[in-house]
Amino acid sequence: QAADSLYIINNFAQKFFADKLFNSDEGQSVALSYLEERGFRDDIIKKFQLGYNPQEKNALVKEALGQQFNIDVLVKSGLVVNRYEEPVDNYRGRIIFPIHNNSGKIIGFGARVIGKADRAPKYINTPENEIYVKSKILYGSYFARHAIDKNDECLLVEGYTDVISLYQAGIENVVASGGTSLTIDQLKLIKKYTNNLTIIYDGDAAGVKAALRGLDMALEESLNVKLVLIPDKEDPDSYVNKVGADQFREFIKGNKKDFILFQLEVMLREAGNDVSKKNDVVNHVAETLSKINRAEDFTKQQEYIRQCSSILKIDELGLTNLVNKYKRDQL
Ligand code: CTP
Ligand code: MN
Ligand code: MN
Ligand code: MN
Ligand code: MN
Repeated sequence: QAADSLYIINNFAQKFFADKLFNSDEGQSVALSYLEERGFRDDIIKKFQLGYNPQEKNALVKEALGQQFNIDVLVKSGLVVNRYEEPVDNYRGRIIFPIHNNSGKIIGFGARVIGKADRAPKYINTPENEIYVKSKILYGSYFARHAIDKNDECLLVEGYTDVISLYQAGIENVVASGGTSLTIDQLKLIKKYTNNLTIIYDGDAAGVKAALRGLDMALEESLNVKLVLIPDKEDPDSYVNKVGADQFREFIKGNKKDFILFQLEVMLREAGNDVSKKNDVVNHVAETLSKINRAEDFTKQQEYIRQCSSILKIDELGLTNLVNKYKRDQL
């Protein structure tokens, strides 16, 4: 089985990388010290099974071939690439973030340069293969699933380090989309655990845009979506390290916005006093609300129509009719 051999090679590589991180001079002085400088505790580094791929061009290749691993599988796993027909380690000199499926098996890796990424890309990730399907991955879900269940809420952040830092701060119901905009498959995975999604993205324009793009899909999946924007220039990792766990929790609690009402606010602010722009906003809101179309969500939709028409200062029945029109258009 192609899939089985990929799991086996990933498992082997993770042990190799973790050993290098903790037990080699290079790993300790270059990588472990970097992680500690950033505030990651040893127990958390071990829990998330982080590692280090040495700078030497083929440290992993040598070890793996010595253990009779197949070179084609190594290449397919993304751990090894052929350079001028010579197999070399793909993640040389990088910190390794293993990515687990929900049963804890490693399906792939994110590999980060140490320090600032000047020329190289900051992260390299496993290429798509039988077990690594980017659109279906939620980083951290293996560690978060019990806490998501217990809190009946899933927090969604952008990156690996955001997940790990929040977990370290005692906020364990957190997963990452991996920087990409949310996919329908990721939302379906979340939906298996909870109906309540809180998106915690960077407060910059890109973060807001990425968040808004997921909204219609999330509504169609019948998720209740809240949004928290982290202050400018920060992300959840940097912010929790800056203000500490308690203040971070308070911030999340005090800054959760209903996603639909947030979107409305943003659009209204942009429209200003322009009547035709306001007209566009009304149509957009009606279209958004028409996505809440499951029978069991009827009351929720009514309540949103009430609140939105009041914010827009328009007739509630009029908005209801418009929502119904968009609903019919979907059929
Ligand atoms: N990402 C990626 N490839 C890149 C850049 C980003 O896959 N070249 C993904 C990673 O999953 C990353 C997430 O997008 O964790 C968010 O990117 P970014 O905010 O740039 O990185 P951080 O997660 O903040 O990483 P760090 O704190 O180490 O800088
Ligand atoms: Mn960002
Ligand atoms: Mn939209
Ligand atoms: Mn970030
Ligand atoms: Mn960061």
